[in-house]
Amino acid sequence: MNTIIKLCNKENLNHTINVNCWIKKKRKLGSMIFMDVYDTSGILQVVVEESNKNFDLINSIPKESVISITGKLVERKDKNYNIPTGEYELIADVIEIYSKSELPPFLIQVETDALEEKRLQYRYLDLRRENVHNNIKFRSKFIHEIRIFLHSKEFCEIETPILSKQTPEGARDYLVPTRNKNFYALPQSPQIFKQLLMVSGFQRYFQIARCFRDEDLRADRQPEFTQLDMEFSFIDEEYIFNFIEEMWNQVFKKVLNYDIPKKFARMSYKDAIERFGSDKPDTRYDIEILDVKEIFKSSSFDLFKNAMNDETFIKAIVLPNKLIDKKNYKNIEKYAKDNGAKGLIWINVENNKITEGSAIKIISEIEAIEILKKESCSTGTILISIDSYNQVHKILGSVRTSLINEMNLEPKNRFSFLWVIDWPLYEYSEADNRYVSAHHPFTSPSLKCIESFDKDKLNAKARAYDLVLNGYEIGGGSIRIYDRELQKRVFASLGLSEEEINKKFGFMINAFKYGVPPHGGIAFGIERILMILLETETIRDVIAFPKNSSGYDLMQDAPSNIDETLLKELGLKKDDEKN
Ligand code: AMO
Repeated sequence: MNTIIKLCNKENLNHTINVNCWIKKKRKLGSMIFMDVYDTSGILQVVVEESNKNFDLINSIPKESVISITGKLVERKDKNYNIPTGEYELIADVIEIYSKSELPPFLIQVETDALEEKRLQYRYLDLRRENVHNNIKFRSKFIHEIRIFLHSKEFCEIETPILSKQTPEGARDYLVPTRNKNFYALPQSPQIFKQLLMVSGFQRYFQIARCFRDEDLRADRQPEFTQLDMEFSFIDEEYIFNFIEEMWNQVFKKVLNYDIPKKFARMSYKDAIERFGSDKPDTRYDIEILDVKEIFKSSSFDLFKNAMNDETFIKAIVLPNKLIDKKNYKNIEKYAKDNGAKGLIWINVENNKITEGSAIKIISEIEAIEILKKESCSTGTILISIDSYNQVHKILGSVRTSLINEMNLEPKNRFSFLWVIDWPLYEYSEADNRYVSAHHPFTSPSLKCIESFDKDKLNAKARAYDLVLNGYEIGGGSIRIYDRELQKRVFASLGLSEEEINKKFGFMINAFKYGVPPHGGIAFGIERILMILLETETIRDVIAFPKNSSGYDLMQDAPSNIDETLLKELGLKKDDEKN
């Protein structure tokens, strides 16, 4: 493809070239028109002289029209070193107009004042903006490099069905009604298929797989997203960790020319929660949760006295050598309250003297100094939460994140990868009032608790792992169960009857009769990684045609009503009150 960037080079100087492009800017200066034109590769200055027979046409044609220009590439007098083609300009000779543009609904340039809603409605125009355009090109390159790496390691790329049966990833399914009055579910992930591919003997599988989950949306979630889904036979955790570290090393080098650490740090789930208050800690920052209960054991204040029991924890976050102010505190406290805190104690200490805070009357200087000593400093902000085990960590995890944002703290590195390991096998669902799988029910219990996992669910551990990057969960996976009886035991421990097991997973249990290799795998959220690499604010910025934050496609106006006749064919009736 003869793009602007490829054509603008020394060899073509003073030669005739042809450029197919869009008009970005035009200005008439005396007897000449100067135009900036662009294509997918870049931008170029074009000069149309008055003597050109298309001068008047070009003068009147709107921006964003598509044209072809043939002319001589010459050296530019006023060189612009800010753009790659800034040493050249094209003197137009033959101009052909392919398509005239109407006035676009917003300015097509990097800095636009258009609201996201408008941009998503006209996403095909938004995608012309250089920054958004380049995100999508980067995504293409990123996926290409992943494919190169995996093919070089003898992986087989296999597509699995989109119209399928419900998969147990924990979110609500998108359903597809069929004419025989049944439903397909769109896959939340290709989990069962990839395990069956191991039964089929492929040994190494990957797929750039589309997944669908009807869950509450956040800045890093879309109802429809893409996974790099992988599965390996005859491996263990160590093999997967090494393999993935090598893969991301190669891919980051290729797409960013950046060297990430050869080996990624590891941390147990328990440590992640107790030290950072999160199962996906952002380890670019050193701030950690401190246990300060001991320091208050002789306090005469009820708040602390009443906390001296096994169920209550007193923990703190210290910001060493920096102080927050009242406004910062209010913002952090609000965030903590949104996460269930009843209150948040704040004190500022300068050179071992308490200077400001929400609790200066109930904390002595000696206690404050003792806390700061844990971080080897005499000046700093202390934030304390008193609550149950789960709550104290959840609250201080949120306090840590908001403190980092509020104080604009400098990260110590650009990319901080962390394997979170030793996950619990189950988690308690308050909503369902029962234990559910912390990952999914195909995850193998840890070898240490293979006998006891279904009797002691609270302490059962899983052979599961997540990869965290800069505080985002970018991937998760596990070593799977490959023994039919063990798989049945796990299903039963989740409260599934024999009949339900057969109805939902009969085909899988059956497949496990015929020789199953030990296997395991992982899946990465492609968009989450891209968001981090490209430093975008939302996941929508790395998807060509995303849904908005309410899961709505503003361009297509979808989801939308469908025809009564089709509904009838599918045996569906609309609940009129809702429409
Ligand atoms: P899991 O559910 O952890 O595992 O998903 C894997 C990764 O997919 C990304 N992800 C999302 N990205 C954008 N929008 C969403 N709504 C969304 N949900 C998840 C995350 C996550 O880490 N089958 C298992 C994997 C396995 O066990 O091999 C699975 O899907 O980055």
